[in-house]
Amino acid sequence: MSIRAQTLARILLAGAFALAVVPAAAQTRPGPAQTVTARSHMVVAANPLAVRAGDEILRAGGSAVDAAVAVQMVLGLTEPQSSGIGGGAFMLHFTAGEGALVAYDGRETAPAAATPDLFLKPDGTPLTFYDAVIGGRSVGTPGTVRLMAEAHRVHGRLPWARLFEPAIRLAREGFAVSPRLAALIAADQPRLSQHPSTRAYFFTPDGLPLPAGTMLRNPDYAATLAAIAERGADAFYIGEIAADIVRAVREHASNPGRLSVEDLAGYRVAVREPVCGSYRGHEVCGMGPPSSGGLTVLQILGMVEHFNMGGLDPGAADAAHLLAEAGRLAFADRAVYMADQDAVPVPVRGLIDTSYLTLRAQQIDLDRAIERPRPGNPPWRDARLWGADNSLEFPSTSHVSIVDRDGNIVSMTTTIEDAFGARMMVRGFLLNNELTDFAFAPMDNGRPVANAVAPGKRPRSSMAPTIVFDREGEPTIVIGSPGGARIIGYVAKALVGLIDWRLDPGAVVSQPHVLTLGRTVELEEGTPAAALEAPLRARGHTVQVRELNSGLGVIVRRDGRLHGAADPRREGIVLGD
Ligand code: DON
Repeated sequence: MSIRAQTLARILLAGAFALAVVPAAAQTRPGPAQTVTARSHMVVAANPLAVRAGDEILRAGGSAVDAAVAVQMVLGLTEPQSSGIGGGAFMLHFTAGEGALVAYDGRETAPAAATPDLFLKPDGTPLTFYDAVIGGRSVGTPGTVRLMAEAHRVHGRLPWARLFEPAIRLAREGFAVSPRLAALIAADQPRLSQHPSTRAYFFTPDGLPLPAGTMLRNPDYAATLAAIAERGADAFYIGEIAADIVRAVREHASNPGRLSVEDLAGYRVAVREPVCGSYRGHEVCGMGPPSSGGLTVLQILGMVEHFNMGGLDPGAADAAHLLAEAGRLAFADRAVYMADQDAVPVPVRGLIDTSYLTLRAQQIDLDRAIERPRPGNPPWRDARLWGADNSLEFPSTSHVSIVDRDGNIVSMTTTIEDAFGARMMVRGFLLNNELTDFAFAPMDNGRPVANAVAPGKRPRSSMAPTIVFDREGEPTIVIGSPGGARIIGYVAKALVGLIDWRLDPGAVVSQPHVLTLGRTVELEEGTPAAALEAPLRARGHTVQVRELNSGLGVIVRRDGRLHGAADPRREGIVLGD
């Protein structure tokens, strides 16, 4: 069936379904989340203490970036499993007045001494995921502190040291361990208790995981932050803190890594152009390579744009099928083409070219899942160079959305990769395991893999901090999520929810999830989406019903006001004025 014929069929079908099906957003569990409305400023993040720090800074006259620095420093304390100064981040920044949008890339880099066999066993086969993660081997040069400093240098309003006050105060005086942190410590006990530093911090003297509500102090973190507050990012990258990071990585007893003090001293933030594409008259802008997030979200949207999504019931199998098929095709391209563009050529423009995406969308049949989605041939000279990459990504990470009173915007996704990263703590913060976002095998069927390890290279990410502009060029949506490669599906469906289904932010973050990482279609357990299993199987999909733990943070500007919501699946809140 042609796309046009399919669209007509959909309009007719949608009419029939609309009478029979209650909109999915109304039935969602957990939640639904509330939408918070404000006039002037707003901050959404995954931890209440971090949101309060951001709000404190905005009320003190700080900019969106000032607030982001304060939020990040508290997140590293109160949500240490997800992000922190031992990790990396991507920040999209919109400057009101100038209308300028820029992407700051604070992604970790591979050490100069890294080689393509970093994650291979002596027999040439890949290490198992956790054999690679735990210890020094997976630790990349952290980028978050330089990113904060660089963004503050350009967009900051309050003095740098002021931004550290909330986190230093909490680290000295103590904060209550949240239920989610307590549950994750308990779940990770076998791994987290291996390293003396994490054992001492996250467990009682008797070796029990800290229960929720425990008042936890972190004087080491307070001292690290005080040094960075006083002397700037160099306090982290040059000198004693850097030397301690390197020592911990290189001297790990069973799994040492190759990070050096030169890697830290030489770390640079990349300032990049965001990748942008249109969706139903809106301009959707996201993070380009080394993240696959922006491109893959844009590919999904560029394909479903050929269907009348607005005429479909958000909870019906048709909408799920279309999002799944677009996702499967987009992930086939992602596996082959997307990696660090500073290290390998990436066909950025070709992958989101509208004629190319029209051809890709024509493969979608409403009645039948594509048997085996294959990568396409985007308009690009070197298009058949790469083999497929199957790097894994696991839970942690955090998203922060902020609008300040002048209309400046931050959309930042920040991570130490897996929950608790490499499970090593240095001076009060956890070290990332971001290097496991590289493909473990550098070759695939005789072809080099674009996302293979190389010295100084940034591992491919899925993080998708996004800002959407309306037809007049005004920013209207700020969004992002954690979730590893699932981030892409969470963000793409949320944008369809906001733009096509005109859901408010609370409803959109509460939608039951339907997504794919390329093959299987995943449906969120315990929600109405689980009921789509049979109809999707009938169309030929392989389906899995499972927990889908997003952490969407959304701000929408509508009718001159800010409307925000935090994902009910995590602990986030929204504050505004
Ligand atoms: O950069 C990435 O895409 C991953 N390292 C992010 C990890 C993540 O989101 C884990 N999820 N909950």
